[in-house]
Amino acid sequence: MINLAQVRADTPGCEKLIHLNNAGASLMPRQVAESLRNYISREEREGSYELAAREDEELNRFYEFAAALLHARPENIAFTSSATNGYNLALSAIPFRAGDCVLLSSNDYPSNYISFLSLEKRFGIKFVQVRDTPSGELDLDDLRQKLKKFNPRLVSISHIPTSSGLVQPIEEIGKLVHETDSLYLVDACQSVGQIPVHAPEIHADFLSGALRKFLRGPRGAGILYVSDKALDQKLEPLFIDMHGADWVSAGKYIQKPDAGRFEEWEHSYAGLMAAKEALRYALEIGIEAIAARNRQLDLKLRAGIKRSGKYKIQDRGKEKASIITFSVSGKSPDEVKKYFYAQNINMNTVSRTSAIYDFAEKELEWVARVSPHYYNTEEEIDIFLDALDKMDQPAYSGKAKAV
Ligand SMILES: Cc1ncc(COP(=O)(O)O)c(C=O)c1O
Repeated sequence: MINLAQVRADTPGCEKLIHLNNAGASLMPRQVAESLRNYISREEREGSYELAAREDEELNRFYEFAAALLHARPENIAFTSSATNGYNLALSAIPFRAGDCVLLSSNDYPSNYISFLSLEKRFGIKFVQVRDTPSGELDLDDLRQKLKKFNPRLVSISHIPTSSGLVQPIEEIGKLVHETDSLYLVDACQSVGQIPVHAPEIHADFLSGALRKFLRGPRGAGILYVSDKALDQKLEPLFIDMHGADWVSAGKYIQKPDAGRFEEWEHSYAGLMAAKEALRYALEIGIEAIAARNRQLDLKLRAGIKRSGKYKIQDRGKEKASIITFSVSGKSPDEVKKYFYAQNINMNTVSRTSAIYDFAEKELEWVARVSPHYYNTEEEIDIFLDALDKMDQPAYSGKAKAV
C-alpha cells in the first residue's frame, strides 16, 4: 500500500494543483528537485569537474537503480538526455544496409517514425507496418508472418504510445522476435515508472525511457537499456565519442565494454544525480504498488468520463494504461487546456501529428489526454470529472485565463 499522505507531502506541486499530465511531465518529488538544486549550487561553489569526481560513487548509483527497475545489470544501462536521444543512439547502432526492412506498429512515437522516414530517405531503409488486431494491439499472427516474409533487421515498438492508453504486448512480441535474427528496440518512455518493465524477459535488445514522466525525474534525462546480446555483438552508436571509446592510436579506438559506450561525454551531472534520486524514490514505493494504484485511478477516471455521456473515450486495447484520451466537440485543444488550467488542473491534448495512423483510423484531429499517477487522489479525479461535466456550460466557458 502506498502511503498517500507521505507521497503528497513529498510533492509540493500537489498543494495548489491537480496535476493530470504525468504522461507529459510529472511533478518532481521534493527530494528529486532538491538534489538537482543542491548539485547545481555545489557546482557553482566547488567546480563541476571536481564535484563530479567527488560524487562519483553517488552518481553511479543511477546505474544500480535503473538496473533494478529494469531487472538488468548496471553494465546494461546508459544515461541519456531524453528517450528520443536514447532511441536514436540505439538506432544508429543497428548495422543497416540499403534495402533493409524495419517492422513497426501503427502506434509508435512520432519522432520514431520521423527517424525511420529519414533513414528511408538517406539510406533506402524500408519500414513495414504490422497490422493491429480489432482490439487495437499489434497482431501477433501478422507479426509472425512479416518476420518470415521480410526478415527485418529490426522490430521497433512503443510499449505505450503518447496518444492513447493502449498497452502493446511487448513480451509476446519479444518472444517472436527472439526466434529470429532481428533486433528488438522497445520505446518504454511512457511505461517506465508507470507499470513493471522487465527488459531481459521481453527480450529487448535496446529499451529507451524518459525520467520526467512516470518516473518523476528531472527534464533532460533518459535511460537506455542495452542488452548483453547487443553488447556482445559490439554494437555502438554511429558517433561514439571519447566517453564511449578510448582513442588508443592514430587509427584506432576501443569501445567501452558496457552500455557506457552509448553515453555522451558531456551530459548534465545534476540531471544524473536527480534522475538517480527519482529512481530511488520509485523503487522505494515499488513499481507493483504504483501500477496497482494507477489502475484504480485509471478505472475511476474512465468510468466517470463514460458516465457523463458527453465525451467519447478513444483508447483501444484489452489492457489500458494510465493515459486516458477522449474526444471533445465544439472546442479547440487550446480552449480545453485553458479551461482546466483556469481551475488549476493540468491536463494535455494530443494532435493527429502525434498519431497519424491511429487518428486517421479513429477519424480524429485531436484528443484530450488525462494521465493520473499514484500520488493523485480520488478526490482530485472527482474534481476533474465535475469540471469536465460542466465544460459545455456557457457559464464556465468564460473562465479561461491566458496560460
Ligand atoms: C511513447 C513515447 N516515446 C518517446 C517519447 C519522447 O520522449 P523524450 O521527449 O524524452 O524524447 C515520448 C514523449 O512523450 C513518448 O510518449
